[in-house]
Amino acid sequence: MSGVTPPVPPRHKGEIPVTELLAKASRSLLEVWGEEMFRNSGTVLEVLGQRLIIFNRPAAIESVLVTQAEIFAAKPAPLSKLLTPLMGQGLFVAEGAAWRARRPPTAAAMAGLVEGLDAVIAAQAAAWAAKPEGATIELMGAMEQASAAILLRLLFGPAGDAAATQIVRLAHAYRVKISGAGLLTLLALPEPLVRLRLGGDAKRIRAVVEPLIARARQAGSGLVAALPADAATEEAISLFAMGHDALSGLLAATWFLLAEAPEVEAALHTELDSGATARPMTRAVLQEALRLYPPVPLFARVASRAAEVAGRTVPQGSLAFIAPWLMHRHADYWEAPDEFRPARFLPGAPQPAPFTYLPFGLGPRHCVGEAFTLRAAEQAIATLARRFRLARLPGRAPIPSAGLTLSLAPRLPMRLTRR
Ligand code: HEM
Repeated sequence: MSGVTPPVPPRHKGEIPVTELLAKASRSLLEVWGEEMFRNSGTVLEVLGQRLIIFNRPAAIESVLVTQAEIFAAKPAPLSKLLTPLMGQGLFVAEGAAWRARRPPTAAAMAGLVEGLDAVIAAQAAAWAAKPEGATIELMGAMEQASAAILLRLLFGPAGDAAATQIVRLAHAYRVKISGAGLLTLLALPEPLVRLRLGGDAKRIRAVVEPLIARARQAGSGLVAALPADAATEEAISLFAMGHDALSGLLAATWFLLAEAPEVEAALHTELDSGATARPMTRAVLQEALRLYPPVPLFARVASRAAEVAGRTVPQGSLAFIAPWLMHRHADYWEAPDEFRPARFLPGAPQPAPFTYLPFGLGPRHCVGEAFTLRAAEQAIATLARRFRLARLPGRAPIPSAGLTLSLAPRLPMRLTRR
């Protein structure tokens, strides 16, 4: 089913000079990959005196993320420098003893039931139902709002509902500062100056979040009520910051791909119309969207000491990169790697080779929001796609790009119709 090949940025051929690579990286992290990187076993680069190794084999990924996870526990210093003013010792940036203390309570709280997720998704359906037939929806903005509403419900219970627009605006302002041209300036500054530059934005976010936490804890609702009091603010901000773009990216990619592939869309509608509680097709569409457009297309670790990874010597201090963007489209491991084929994830289809599919990372630091994300996205797509269709407006296909997270396009207008 479906021979649709959704858009990707152009891939260069052969080696390119480091200066050109850096220029591409500052525009989009999806532009740095040459054609051969979707076939090779890895790449070693020397950039500004720093050794970067891109691991592109399952055995190497297993070694970095699982068997030698202790050696590769730390995130790169520049990333921590940009995120610590916002997240403090929140789970994503915490290391060592701080991370070990934070992960279990947050993981346990994430496993709890989310009160009223149905209500948040029903509100989204009601907003679409109120629009005229054929109205234009700007998909990226709509999914940012939907993702924020879902995460605020998760974190704060009903206390979070009114804050979505304000938090999206503040999170957006922070993200703009730490990406694009601003990113290079910040990376060149010493840490105290970075803290000074980003401190005001972080403080504004805390000022909105802290009253929500107080209300949620008083009502005993939301994930923050289940966290130790001294961790609640940092974790709430860290979870929102990590989850918001990624969840909205997944939802946007799913709608976009469904609009591109009418056969898949029809199969999804058949499943949803049956009213069955098991929804393998919905799940498969989400998994395939995560494969083709992984919201976190690249992540990195630092080698805290010299190591041997799948036969390659990794000197201490090297940056180890894992790129779901490459592994998910690697010609050795996927049939028709660039085609949208959700059937590859249907029950009974051969499983992807171990360590080739990792939209949520793997090993001890894998995404703490994975199960929640899949649950919430399935519920959102199932509820909305049962009643509505989105179709792409005529015009050029979007070209996805990535900073810390992948984005299909800055804006993506779609036509909304009822089914
Ligand atoms: C489609 C949605 C999502 C994707 C693709 C995604 C992907 C990832 C990936 C790849 C990592 C590992 C990064 C690394 O190893 O450096 C990660 C970690 C993390 N994610 Fe997600 N994520 C998603 C949604 C969420 C949500 C909804 C939340 C929170 C509610 C969240 C919270 C976190 C946190 C806190 C970590 C750090 C965990 C740790 O270091 O112990 N993520 N995520």
